[in-house]
Amino acid sequence: MVLEDPGAAVADRLTEAAERGGHIVITGGSTPRSAYARAAAHNGDWSGATVWFSDERMVPRDHPDSNFAMADQALLSRLTNPPRVMRMQGELGADAAAGAYEAALREHLGGSPRFDLVLLGMGPDSHVASLFPGKPELDETRRFAVAVPIAGMEPQVPRVTLTFPVLNAAHDVDFLVAGADKADAIARAFTEPPDPEAPAGRVRPDHGSLLVFLDEAAASRLQ
Ligand code: 6PG
Repeated sequence: MVLEDPGAAVADRLTEAAERGGHIVITGGSTPRSAYARAAAHNGDWSGATVWFSDERMVPRDHPDSNFAMADQALLSRLTNPPRVMRMQGELGADAAAGAYEAALREHLGGSPRFDLVLLGMGPDSHVASLFPGKPELDETRRFAVAVPIAGMEPQVPRVTLTFPVLNAAHDVDFLVAGADKADAIARAFTEPPDPEAPAGRVRPDHGSLLVFLDEAAASRLQ
């Protein structure tokens, strides 16, 4: 849906899911920061919720490129009643961090993890989480979290990412995308049928809802 302020709608969605005590995946990049700040201003009760990450850059937890650092500063550390936070450990290196996340997912959510709400962004190349066009991680069918040794975009550091099987198993998947530089990628990923080369077009929940929150600029090339 096209909204003047898509971040405000996403802040409401996050707060509602958190207050239901859900397992929520949040994402990195710059676009969600203001949505996180708004959710922090709601200061809902997140104490029953568990927050997971869609992907992480392999940097220390307080590094400016860390997705955790961004989410922590904008949202998590500001809540009076914070959630349990399951961080991807950027300081471990990609293989170890991916293995640790896979183990945590299986421990807390079992062999078929089903998140209540997954929030995703999208890059101008239509990457989602750290699933970049043409990379082998797109074809993972078994693991829920994998190492990404070579990122497709800046910052050029190894990553860890959730994979399509676990993203598409979620109850609700929401995208938050803003800006004219994303308009082409939005059109490729969210027309039917989607461009098979566009990773975001492969996010189609198996038995869940898909909502795409866009500003006018990002939606400008949609038919
Ligand atoms: C990451 C993200 C990534 C992000 C997009 C959009 O770690 O890079 O999780 O998938 O959502 O790159 O990022 P922007 O909002 O900065 O454009």
